[in-house]
Order: sequence, then C-alpha cells, then structure tokens
Amino acid sequence: MSITMLRATPESLGELVEAMSQWPRTGGPVQVHVGDLGWKWRFGGPALAEAVRVWTRDGRVVAVGLDDDGLVRLGIAPEADDDIELAARMLADLEGVEVVEARAGAAFRALLARRGWVADEPWAPLVRDLAEPVADCGLRIEVGGAHNVRDRVEVQRAAFDNSTFSEERWHAMAAAPAYQRARCLIGYDDTGAAVAAVTVWSAGEGRPGLLEPMGVHRDHRGRGHGRAITVAAAAALREMGSSSATVCTPAGNVGGVATYASAGYTRQPDVTDLRRPIGG
Ligand SMILES: CC(C)(COP(=O)(O)OP(=O)(O)OC[C@H]1O[C@@H](n2cnc3c(N)ncnc32)[C@H](O)[C@@H]1OP(=O)(O)O)[C@@H](O)C(=O)NCCC(=O)NCCS
Repeated sequence: MSITMLRATPESLGELVEAMSQWPRTGGPVQVHVGDLGWKWRFGGPALAEAVRVWTRDGRVVAVGLDDDGLVRLGIAPEADDDIELAARMLADLEGVEVVEARAGAAFRALLARRGWVADEPWAPLVRDLAEPVADCGLRIEVGGAHNVRDRVEVQRAAFDNSTFSEERWHAMAAAPAYQRARCLIGYDDTGAAVAAVTVWSAGEGRPGLLEPMGVHRDHRGRGHGRAITVAAAAALREMGSSSATVCTPAGNVGGVATYASAGYTRQPDVTDLRRPIGG
C-alpha cells in the first residue's frame, strides 16, 4: 500500500473534483469542499493547480491540501479518517507549513494534538437542513450567467473589500468542472438594483452543498437582503439535490454569523485552525 503526495496539475483537477465531491457527509464536519476549489478556479486552472497538493493511496485520492491565505486547508476522505499512516505522511509532507485547517481526519487531528499544535483562528460552521421546502426569500433572484455577469461582479466587489473579482474571472470559474454543479444567484431590489449575491456549490445528490461566497452590496445593507440571498441559496441547493446547506465564516464575523442564523442556518460548535508549536 503506497501513499504519494503530488502537486496537482491543471489536467488532474477534474479527477480531483470527482473525488472531493464524494467526501461531504450530512452532519459531518464542514471541511474544505469541492466548492472551495471551484471558487478559487476564478484565477485559472494553472494557478489553482499550483495551490493544490493531493495525497493518493494506491492511486486513489485520499486527501487534499489547498494553499489559501497563508495556511493549508486540508480535506480528508471519510474512509481515510482513521488512517494513521496517511496522517504521519501528511504531517511529514507539510514541513514548513505553520498553520493548517483540519476539520476532519480523526487520526490526523490526534497526531497534531500529540505534537503540540495549538488552536489558531476560530471559525463558525453553520448548517441548514434541506429536508423541508424553503420558503420564498422575498427578493427577486436571477441565476448568474453571461447576461448578468456585470451585476454579479459589481456586487462581489462592493461586498468584499479588496475583491479582485472580474468578468474574466467569473468566466474562468464558470467554465471549470466544479461549476457544473454550481450556480451564482443575484438578488435585485424593488428598484432593479443588484444588491446581493451568492455562489452555491453542490457536491451531488444527498450530500451537503456549500455557500462560497455570500455578500451584500455595501450601499444596500441592513435591509434584510443578506438574509434573503442566504435563504435563496438554501432553496437553490435543495433544488440541486443537496441534503443541507453549509458554510463556514470567521467566528468574529458577527454580521455574517447573524445573517446565516437569521436565514435558518444553525450554528455548530466553533472550529479552529491549528498552528505548529514553536520549534515543532
Ligand atoms: C454580513 C452581510 C451579508 C449582512 O448583510 P445585510 O443585508 O446587512 O444583512 P440583513 O439586513 O439581511 O441582516 C440579517 C440579520 O443579521 C443581522 N446583522 C447584519 N449585519 C450585522 C452586524 N454587522 N452586526 C450584528 N448583526 C448584524 C441583522 O440584524 C439581521 O438580524 P435579524 O434577522 O435577527 O434581525 C453584509 O454585511 C456583507 O456582505 N458583509 C461582507 C461579506 C460577508 O461577511 N459575508 C458573509 C461571510 S462569507
């Protein structure tokens, strides 16, 4: 049985999407999702591939690491949750990495704990079950496409400081394999202004989907649009067959957490990133 770690290639990303889509479990940890890969695809396949490490066991993808904002976000296949050998190999391969996100992988988390890794930034996972139909959100919603990409981009840039989103990046994201199970939603108010947007990512029938990202135009906040677009996201994921709608936001993002809660998402216990001990 051999475990290998390789950097992804643009050609291998499609296979990775298929593997990662199998991983989310209803009620399981909200770990790095195929939608996180999909959202990062806006920078193009080659840039994404450079940011991705893939662990395989006998040719089968069992774990992934996504370099993101100075840390590595780790995803582990449920069948490899207790794989001690994989855990040891991953830790060895992460030499030089100071902070990881590891929300799944019992063996890997136990190993980091034994090695003295400490809690870093706390995140709030929130989950909305989709067994029951979702009520109308009260905002006019359009599905994103070439015809309204300008609105999608404008809302994104007006919702997130320092956003570099662009029409070109939207097209790069929308043409990629992960987006085949995804949708952008744009919310319009009574005056016809684009006020809110979200991208939702399904991992296939019966598995949890992900919201990434969600935001309201800074000129249109405090009017219930955040709640509405987040309800619309749940409805879209339900239509796409997801079992639940999941999201993770920094625990300190008070407005974000309040908005998801207001839209019927239940806050789960906080999860923290993990930092290597000094000299560890
Ligand atoms: C967070 C955000 C989406 C809220 O949008 P919004 O349209 O102002 O939110 P709403 O008016 O729908 O408010 C929804 C609920 O959240 C609460 N809320 C919103 N912003 C809040 C804040 N900054 N502090 C405390 N509560 C807040 C509202 O009081 C409301 O609660 P209620 O339904 O219990 O009355 C918006 O500020 C935003 O786009 N922020 C930047 C992007 C972001 O953080 N996205 C979420 C994480 S990815």
